[in-house]
Amino acid sequence: MNISSAAYDSLSPTNLDNFNNLLRLPANDGIMGIVDASDAPLRITTGTESVEVLPGKRSEVSAYRVERDGKTFVNPTIRVRTGSSFSAELANGLDEETTIHWHGQHIDWRMDGHPLLPVSPDATYRYAYPVANRGGTYWYHPHAHGTSARQTYSGLAGFFIVEDEEERRLGEALDLKLGETDIPLLIQDKMFDESGNFVYAPGPMDEEMGYEGNVILTNLTPNPYLEVVTRIYRFRLLNGSNARNLRLAFSRTGEDELLLYHVIATDGGLLDRPRAAREVFLSPAERVDVLVDLTGFEPGEEVVLRSLPFDPMHREHEMAGHMDMGHHHHMGPARLSDGHEFYLLRLVVSERVDYARRVPETLSESSRQDFAEAATRTVTLSMAAEGETNRWLINGLSHEMGEYPIVAQRGAKEIWEVRNDERSMPHPMHLHGFRFLVLERTGSPEQVSCLAVDDDGRTVSDLGFKDTVLIWPGETMKAAVDLSHGFEGEQLYMFHCHILEHEKGGMMLNLKVVSGEA
Ligand code: C2O
Ligand code: CU
Ligand code: CU
Repeated sequence: MNISSAAYDSLSPTNLDNFNNLLRLPANDGIMGIVDASDAPLRITTGTESVEVLPGKRSEVSAYRVERDGKTFVNPTIRVRTGSSFSAELANGLDEETTIHWHGQHIDWRMDGHPLLPVSPDATYRYAYPVANRGGTYWYHPHAHGTSARQTYSGLAGFFIVEDEEERRLGEALDLKLGETDIPLLIQDKMFDESGNFVYAPGPMDEEMGYEGNVILTNLTPNPYLEVVTRIYRFRLLNGSNARNLRLAFSRTGEDELLLYHVIATDGGLLDRPRAAREVFLSPAERVDVLVDLTGFEPGEEVVLRSLPFDPMHREHEMAGHMDMGHHHHMGPARLSDGHEFYLLRLVVSERVDYARRVPETLSESSRQDFAEAATRTVTLSMAAEGETNRWLINGLSHEMGEYPIVAQRGAKEIWEVRNDERSMPHPMHLHGFRFLVLERTGSPEQVSCLAVDDDGRTVSDLGFKDTVLIWPGETMKAAVDLSHGFEGEQLYMFHCHILEHEKGGMMLNLKVVSGEA
């Protein structure tokens, strides 16, 4: 039974008066607690935890648990240094197979939580690798075959924060501290039942469009607020939803005018310099790090993080002459429709402090590589013919376990030209194992093209390294992919849509990287 309409009134994220729950922050233990894991092996257990998600109720959620020095961490915020060695033994306490996928890490496929290497109930698996990635906001979640949508939704997700010299310099320049003034925000939409548990019950339409909820959790807190002071804050925004896109902006409470903030990082770490923005789209699995400058505010003033309304562009049936069928049939309060506006976090300025730091002019010496000689690989995203069970296809294909439709040479530099069909919906496309740079967007819908910051149609969140990129209906996105790595033998990765119901439904292709000279 879904939650009643009466109970839902106090949970709706469209009413700012509901934003009275103290935001959970990563601290020294507990939920999202910070675990330093550079050269310090972890043991991670998957299982069920009882967590107060809705006020006054206990939810049974699936979670990662780490015990260390007498402290317990649930879905820890794992922090590692570039160049250190990371090691985590997974002990699977779930009653089904799972894996841990280190989303965004440049690692040997055997360490990547690939569905070909599932961990059975009561079994263990050791993930161990040198941290090769540059600093940035990454994350981890399950990736077993056919179950990652449900398992991730059930609560299995955490931050994986990599630090390097450039990150250290930024943190020092702005006097930032993780969990206090440098704040990871995991954003997820959920459905709840009467007793406070998550409901994951996708119907056929949800499998096609993605499963969306009507309660928005930030760090497992519904409708949160946070007391802040007059300084600069860093927010690491991760869209950990199964399917919902966000259009993130800040404004003063009660005002529509959008505040200017600074985008400083994307999926793969810092941009070369901060870029001013008033809004960014953030699709499932994408990250964007922003600086919000509250030095000009007075105690008592408030700022709100919100998702602006947008056209969700579910165009798949339109040209076939179908009516909008009303995507979601269910009992209880309505789903929050895709593209509907809502609030995420209320920031309450509590006191004035002395703070004389400024947003730095440069952040990173990002190395631009030469892709002049790169060959182009074309990829299409489209809907399957009426009546097919797998609804979404890549290059006309659906995922098959043992097949490798994409074969690339180790060390190759490629341009991926990914075209999303007109009769489609937005798909956040994710590549395992490698980062890429967005070179160009063409055919973008107006709500995206109006955000372009250069002649190549790129938006502010296209300006850094990426591992996931949202491609809208009718749009073609070109990206530069460097398939270099130092891992032995054939390497098996995947390219898939990060709407997890689409991934489950086969919108995923295996990618094999074969070593050189062949
Ligand atoms: Cu974050 Cu293959 O996934
Ligand atoms: Cu991934
Ligand atoms: Cu998709």
